[in-house]
Formats: sequence, structure tokens, C-alpha cells
Amino acid sequence: MRIDIISAQPALMESAFAHSILKRAQNKGLVEVQLHNLKDYGLGKHRQIDDYQFGGGAGMVMMVEPILKLIQDLQSQREYDELIYMTPDGELFEQKMANQLSLKENLIILCGHYKGVDQRIRDHIITKEISIGSYVLSGGELAAAVVSDAIIRLLPGVLNDESSALSDSFQDDLLAPPVYTRPAEINGWAVPEVLQSGNFPKIEAWREAKALEITKEKRPDLLEGESL
Ligand code: ADE
Repeated sequence: MRIDIISAQPALMESAFAHSILKRAQNKGLVEVQLHNLKDYGLGKHRQIDDYQFGGGAGMVMMVEPILKLIQDLQSQREYDELIYMTPDGELFEQKMANQLSLKENLIILCGHYKGVDQRIRDHIITKEISIGSYVLSGGELAAAVVSDAIIRLLPGVLNDESSALSDSFQDDLLAPPVYTRPAEINGWAVPEVLQSGNFPKIEAWREAKALEITKEKRPDLLEGESL
């Protein structure tokens, strides 16, 4: 998979891709992430990428030309499955969307800044608009990193334990059961005995029951439509 991220502030995302699982995924050649500085395509000697809004109003708007040129450059090199725009008024990002996007080959993610991008980019170029939640961030960069992380960890071979992504919260509309590690007791707090029993069918049954219990308690909406 290849993800091209377009931003006026690419440095904001560098660290997210330079550590841990995302770094390993790139080193293993399972994903290529390219951060593009929109300013490299800015107009004139000041590398302008934004301008005042038509009709007046506070806040600058990202211009069509630099974005269009950069995207056309990328599209001349390969075909893209989706051209994504990160925006608080997009479709809410959830695990199902992460699963779907993880099956794609090439993605472009455009990060908004200032007041956002000229609507003509959204109308004619963008194929999918994504929000990571009902709040407004300073820009789309952190949101793009969140979406990329959720996608990349699903790619085959990225996680050491293949079954690990499948047992994540939300994968089966259930939250994950609690986990414990050594010591078996500290401060009088004991690890549930069943987990130390070595009886794997019993452990699995306990985990399933716990997942259901926690989901009912914390996120009953996930169980809607299922018989409780
Ligand atoms: N840009 C600013 N806020 C955002 C959000 N909540 N989701 C995606 N992109 C954004």
C-alpha cells in the first residue's frame, strides 16, 4: 500500500510515522508513506498556497492551483483508489472504514488548514471526506495520522501476532476484554484466576463474556440490532 499525504505542515506528522509499528511497517516494505509539503507547489516567489475568501469573511482558504498541480503530479505516476480530504464535516471514521481502506492500493490524503480548501477541490477532485470526530482540530494533519495508523496496522504482516488486529476493540462490534501481566498479585490486586488456569477454552469463554459485559456497560450502542 502507498499513502501520499498532502499538507501545509507535514512536519506535524513526521514523528507519527517515524516510530514503533508504523516505522516497522515501512521498513518491512508493507506500506510507503510520503509526506508532501504543499508549499513546494505554492505560487510565486512567496510560495503562496492560500488566499482571502470570495465574499469576505475571516480566515484564509487553500487555493485550487497548488493542490491540483501536486495531485496531478501524483496521478501521473500511479492510479489512486481514493482521494481523501480530512475535514470535521466528513463521514465519521470508524473501524469499518479503516478495514475498507486497508484493502486499497494507493491513497491520497489531503489535510485542510486555515478555513479549509476551495470548494472546487472538494467538488471535483476529492472522492471521500473523513472526520475523526465531532470537534475541530487546527488542521487535518493529526486526523490524517490517526486514519493512517488505523489502516496500516491492519495490513497483513504489520503486527507480529496476526490475530492481534482481529481481536482489537470494534472488530466484531465488541470492546476488547481486560488484559493483565505479571505479577499475579500486587497491592492485594489479583489477576482473575481463570487467566492463570491454563484452561484455554475456559479462558476464551471468560474473555468473550467480559467483552460482552464491558460493551453493554460502556458502549451499548455497538450492540444495537443484536439480541442481548
Ligand atoms: N480537521 C479539523 N478537524 C478535523 C476532524 N475532526 N476530523 C478530520 N479532519 C479535521
